[in-house]
Amino acid sequence: MYNPQEIAIYIHWPFCKSKCPYCDFYKEINPKVNQDEIITEYLKYLEYYHQLTADRTVKSIFFGGGTPSLIEPRLIEKIISFIEKKWKLKDDIEISLEANPNSNRLNMFSELKNAGINRLSLGVQSLTETNLRFLGRTHTAEQAKKCLQEVVKIFDNHSADLIYALPEQNLSEWEKELAEISDFGLKHISLYQLTIEENTVFARKNIKPLNEDEAANLYTFTCSFLHEKAYEQYEISNFAKKGFQSGHNLTYWEGGDYIGIGKSAHGRLFLHGNHIACEYPLQHTKLTAEERAEELIIMGLRLNKGINKSVFSQICGLNFTEFVNKTKFNFLKENHFLTETDTNVYATASGRLVLNTLIENLCQR
Ligand SMILES: C[S@@+](CC[C@H](N)C(=O)[O-])C[C@H]1O[C@@H](n2cnc3c(N)ncnc32)[C@H](O)[C@@H]1O
Ligand code: SF4
Repeated sequence: MYNPQEIAIYIHWPFCKSKCPYCDFYKEINPKVNQDEIITEYLKYLEYYHQLTADRTVKSIFFGGGTPSLIEPRLIEKIISFIEKKWKLKDDIEISLEANPNSNRLNMFSELKNAGINRLSLGVQSLTETNLRFLGRTHTAEQAKKCLQEVVKIFDNHSADLIYALPEQNLSEWEKELAEISDFGLKHISLYQLTIEENTVFARKNIKPLNEDEAANLYTFTCSFLHEKAYEQYEISNFAKKGFQSGHNLTYWEGGDYIGIGKSAHGRLFLHGNHIACEYPLQHTKLTAEERAEELIIMGLRLNKGINKSVFSQICGLNFTEFVNKTKFNFLKENHFLTETDTNVYATASGRLVLNTLIENLCQR
């Protein structure tokens, strides 16, 4: 639930062991990187952001990547205890880390837990060998499954990422994989359709994604399959057991404030009446109320519950129904792509299939 007093902190670790051919996230391969030096720099910028937000309560910390499971646990602990010393922490603070099975080593997960991580998100991507090879992953399906078993044993809160809608993937192959991942007892699952991003190896190889209709079929099937397994969809690609939605990611989708530390990290802060977009480390740009409103729509409509209209105006100071393109808004409601209740506006199941078009229409000035 949105709370203007709270902030989330994102720590970006841009290093990976190898580059996956589909991935356009910023990353570097540098096994000899001086981790102590980088973390010292991170603490310096955390100190800076603390001065701007000292009166806030930290609701979550997220170590994302790249591959943050390559950070030495003692340095993760150093960051967490620095944050703990500086800010007030929420009682049930969520501290997540993304791990890649290819970085696993003996006792890694228990060391991460001892360092203060209380939610582990594992980048499995696929449970079949052929798909993993296609995706250029450097771990096997067996290694991924072993990691999943360890993660579920060691942590109380966990998640896994899978990529589907691979070229030529059919429903029965995907159903098998879905059934397998949902049997591990994970509290949360993120399922992403493969996108072919510009400037990736996949784009250069001219790899074509699965056709739109088949991908939509897999998507609809995924939502009802996971619903049967008591995983509720709460965001376009995210499914959770009751009480286990990602609190950190909800901050982005609900328009809350967050600090971003590390190369290619960014933040959003409401400071002294201004909406500030922060590019790490210190580039700050003022956003207009209209720019912030567009962001709230782009992010908020990803959620099944959609946008809360009074939170929307609390954050950006504009009235939702006055801000959006009224003709398009009415058209989208009449054609059952959007639903408006007294409090919220959300995309219907068919609206979610064409979410980008829907957002473009709403924000047309
Ligand atoms: C920043 S990555 C970090 C995960 C971790 N480095 C790993 O690979 O295990 C976050 C997630 O984005 C998803 N992802 C990245 N590129 C994608 C693409 N082109 N299409 C679909 N999903 C993608 C993957 O599921 C990945 O786990
Ligand atoms: S998917 Fe993960 S491991 Fe692969 S290149 Fe991207 S960030 Fe690195």
